[in-house]
Amino acid sequence: MGFNKPMLTEIITINPEAIDLPLLNRAAGILRSGGLVAFPTETVYGLGANALDADAVAKIFLAKGRPSTNPIIVHVHDIQSAMALVSTWTNTGQKLADRFWPGPLSLAMPKTEHIPDIVTAGGSTVAIRIPSHPVARALIKLAGVPIAAPSANLSMEISPTRASHVLKSLDGKIDAIVDGGPCPGGIESTVLTLATDPPTLLRPGLITRRAIEAVIGKVQTNQNYVGEISPSPGMMDRHYAPRAGLEIAVENSGQRVRALSNAGLRIGWLKLGNPTDDNAAGLTITMPTDSSGYAAHLYAALHEMDEAGVDRIVVEMPPNGDDWTGILDRLTRAKH
Ligand code: TXA
Ligand code: MG
Repeated sequence: MGFNKPMLTEIITINPEAIDLPLLNRAAGILRSGGLVAFPTETVYGLGANALDADAVAKIFLAKGRPSTNPIIVHVHDIQSAMALVSTWTNTGQKLADRFWPGPLSLAMPKTEHIPDIVTAGGSTVAIRIPSHPVARALIKLAGVPIAAPSANLSMEISPTRASHVLKSLDGKIDAIVDGGPCPGGIESTVLTLATDPPTLLRPGLITRRAIEAVIGKVQTNQNYVGEISPSPGMMDRHYAPRAGLEIAVENSGQRVRALSNAGLRIGWLKLGNPTDDNAAGLTITMPTDSSGYAAHLYAALHEMDEAGVDRIVVEMPPNGDDWTGILDRLTRAKH
């Protein structure tokens, strides 16, 4: 493998509402022949490789600068393909798949030997999901193999929700980007491991704990996790972080913004609700007040703050509630 040689990253534009299959098949061909292709999912852009090809998966770790201890989610297009990758398919798995797939829920289950160790970081479970994004599903189906895909960003950086975000960090390091427009969900999938009893929520996301418990009963959270990979490597504190320091203002974020601006800092202000005429911040972004709208715009807002080169990001504390847990989790990680 030519590790340092820059390559030409091809951009393949696909309209999710009218998928050009022959064009998308170019991207599938790259995946089949062991290359790296970034593609849109309903959560964030993924960086895909053939999950059954250890050399191809190794290129993902290299391109992202990802530690080899962090396992990768495998994406398939139907339940049969998921079942083929796990050694024990349980009732619980079936119920969750019936209810939430295709969709933003990744399930870690005991793997078969078809999955190379590099995908699971040597662990005995593989996390699998069926994405609901039409471009992702069509691409995986065309490729004809399961696709290992972490978020398509450099390790430790914010996940991409647009093709331009991917290009910013991975141009010249991957073979192609399928540009299917902005990702509708905006934050990464919920990760649940079925290797514990009860199952353990490793990463909160758009599918809430309450929604999962309504289907399978009690789940535990990461704090009590005593499984094999403990804690989930992706739950390392510094993760999902913008370049500028970020703080969450529990009350009166406007006052905090003015104080920091007066001290000479250029501030990015992520506020809720109504646009404001307060111009103390160098850059103000007004976020939707519903959790799905907020999630959909969060990473794009943080990318914009980074591009504007602000010194500090002040975030107005979002509301409480089950549907905000994933968002609060990402904001808290972005603080470090
Ligand atoms: O929405 C998503 O999940 C996106 C899209 C592309 O599918 N992918 C994503 O991948 O966010 P990544 O690699 O950035 O985050 C995957 C998380 C990491 O925290 C990783 O440690 C955890 O899932 N994970 C992967 N396989 C696992 C396994 N077998 N057991 C426990 N945790 C696992
Ligand atoms: Mg990631």
